[in-house]
Amino acid sequence: MTDLRDKIQQTANYIQDKGVADVAFGLILGSGLGEIAEEIENPVVIPYNEIPHFPVSTVIGHAGQLVYGRLAGRNVLAMQGRFHYYEGNPMETVTYPVRVMAALGIHSIVVTNAAGGVNENFQPGNLMLITDHINFMGTNPLIGPNDEKMGPRFPDMSTAYTKDYQEKARAVADKLAIDLQEGVYLGMSGPTYETPAEIKMARIIGADAVGMSTVPEVIVAAHSGMKVLGISCITNLAAGMQANLNHTEVVETTERVKEDFKKLIKETLTVL
Ligand code: HPA
Repeated sequence: MTDLRDKIQQTANYIQDKGVADVAFGLILGSGLGEIAEEIENPVVIPYNEIPHFPVSTVIGHAGQLVYGRLAGRNVLAMQGRFHYYEGNPMETVTYPVRVMAALGIHSIVVTNAAGGVNENFQPGNLMLITDHINFMGTNPLIGPNDEKMGPRFPDMSTAYTKDYQEKARAVADKLAIDLQEGVYLGMSGPTYETPAEIKMARIIGADAVGMSTVPEVIVAAHSGMKVLGISCITNLAAGMQANLNHTEVVETTERVKEDFKKLIKETLTVL
C-alpha cells in the first residue's frame, strides 16, 4: 500500500469509528454555503482538527468540520469548509477529503462554490448548474505517479459533471420556480480576484463563471469514478463588470440566496 493510501484508510477508519456508516453522498460546501449542514438530522460532527491526516481550513466563512447524518432522506457526509490551493495547500491536500469520501464508499458528490459571474446574462444571487469546467489553475491534482487502485492514469473528463444529475437538478429547479442558470466554471488559483482582462479572456474561451475551487475536487472525483453535481452561487459580477470585488460581498450574497440554495440541494438529493 502506498503511504497516501495508508493515510486515507486511517482517516476513513477514524471517521467510520465515529459512526459514519453507509454513506452514499458527499457534500462540499463553499464560502457562505455551509449552513445547509445545520439541517442534517441526527448529526455526527467531527472537527477537521480531530481527524488524523485531515487538513485544517483557514478561510473566513468556513466552519472546518464534517457533518454526517440524514438530509432529504439520504445519508450524507458534508464538509463545512474546504481546502483551497491559494491557502498554500498542495493539490494532494486540497483533494484529500474527496479521496477519503471515496474510501468511505461515497459514490456521488455535490460540490458547491461561490463564483463570479462572467456570462453577461447572470445576476449576483443567481444559482448556476455547472455543466463543465476549464482548469486554469496551472496544475492538476493527478500530476505525479498514478496509483491504479485509485483510478486510471488518463481519466476521461467528458462526463465529469454527471449528465443525469444535471437533468434532475434542472427539473427540480423548474418545479421550485428557481431560476437556475447553467454553464462552464473556470477554476483559477486565486487568491487575487481576476483582472478585467482575465475576465474578458474567460468569456472568450467559453467560461460563464469563475472561482478558486471545485476543479481539483471534481478531477479527483472523476479519477475515483464518482458522480458529480456542481452548483455555483454567483455572488458578484466578475472583475470589470462591476465597480470592485470583495469577500464581504461574496458572503453577503450567499446569505441572501441561501434559502433557494438549500431548497435546490435538498430537493435534488431526494431524486439523485
Ligand atoms: N472570482 C473568483 N472567485 C470568486 C469570485 C470572483 O469574482 N466571486 C466569488 N469567488
